[in-house]
Amino acid sequence: MSDSKPSTNEILAKIRAQKAAAAGDADEAPAAAAPAPEETPAAPAAAPAPAGTADILASIRGGGAGTKPAAAKPAAAPGGTADILASIRGGGAGAKPAAAKPAAAPAGTADILASIRGGGAGAKPAAAKPAAAKGNPAAAAKADTTAAAGMSPAEMIRAARSAKDGTAAKPAVVLPSRPLPGKLPAAPKAAVQRRSFLSAVTATICTPIIIAWTSFAATAAASGLALARFMMPNVLVEPPTKFKIGPPTDYAPGMVSTKWQAQFNIWVVNDTVDGVSCIYALSTVCTHLGCTPNWLEGEQKFKCPCHGSGFYKTGINFEGPAPRPLERVGLRLSEDGMLEVDKSVKFQRELGQWANPSSFVGVG
Ligand code: FES
Repeated sequence: MSDSKPSTNEILAKIRAQKAAAAGDADEAPAAAAPAPEETPAAPAAAPAPAGTADILASIRGGGAGTKPAAAKPAAAPGGTADILASIRGGGAGAKPAAAKPAAAPAGTADILASIRGGGAGAKPAAAKPAAAKGNPAAAAKADTTAAAGMSPAEMIRAARSAKDGTAAKPAVVLPSRPLPGKLPAAPKAAVQRRSFLSAVTATICTPIIIAWTSFAATAAASGLALARFMMPNVLVEPPTKFKIGPPTDYAPGMVSTKWQAQFNIWVVNDTVDGVSCIYALSTVCTHLGCTPNWLEGEQKFKCPCHGSGFYKTGINFEGPAPRPLERVGLRLSEDGMLEVDKSVKFQRELGQWANPSSFVGVG
């Protein structure tokens, strides 16, 4: 037997050659047995060499070299392909039909070809070990166990092959399923229902009729609010025009108090005017353009920061663009002894109004 494996064509050629040799023997046999020429088949001598697979199978059914023709053994002809393959496994010439050896049937086609390449008669198939798995029941049981644990078909096939070869199959490690990197997990059913509900609500709200009525209602509401505000009068909250500023003793002679400048826009001065010691209240509005002058204690004057007008402690202007003295507001001593200011009345010196007793409160 050569080391190189013969190809299928070579095997077929070999079988044909064997068949042809068998046919030649058959031709010689009738000649030697002349007394009974009608009992020997005439067809083998005239039949050509088998060319197709059917012919090859027929020749194999015939028994190969050394066997009698199929017509002489009609019982062997009905054998199937399995029988033929079994006969090949059993050996070439002189092998019995496969029906006599049913145990060799599980070998595959590759095994059959390997056996043919291996030399035909007497050669055993390379993988013809069907009882390997049966001989190792532990491996078979383990394969069944792993298959029941959720093995894939490929793993089951591998386990079966391992059991067939007699090796113990390794238990499959069942890992928890993990989502693929590019595949998002399926959304929960509750989330899907929520999306469906939101989609239905959005589709209902966004209809043209709903949008039109909503816009109309919003416009009507805005118009109603504007009308209500128009019907209400504008009220300007101002400080009261009359208010009390404490007893006269709170204002020392020669003192200019800026205590009420921020709240009531007045200065309270205790000074002597035209030889009369009195307390009066000056307005903080510059007679030029209405700015608010500052009292400068060191210079004993009111100085307007806008255009530089200056006023004495008495309120008489002496510098800057101010055209006239500061104005006095009404002042009186109330029944409770408190000084009461009345900003609703003004007294102007250029008009001789500072002589009005309502423009000052005499002290001393
Ligand atoms: Fe006071 Fe012009 S506003 S000087």
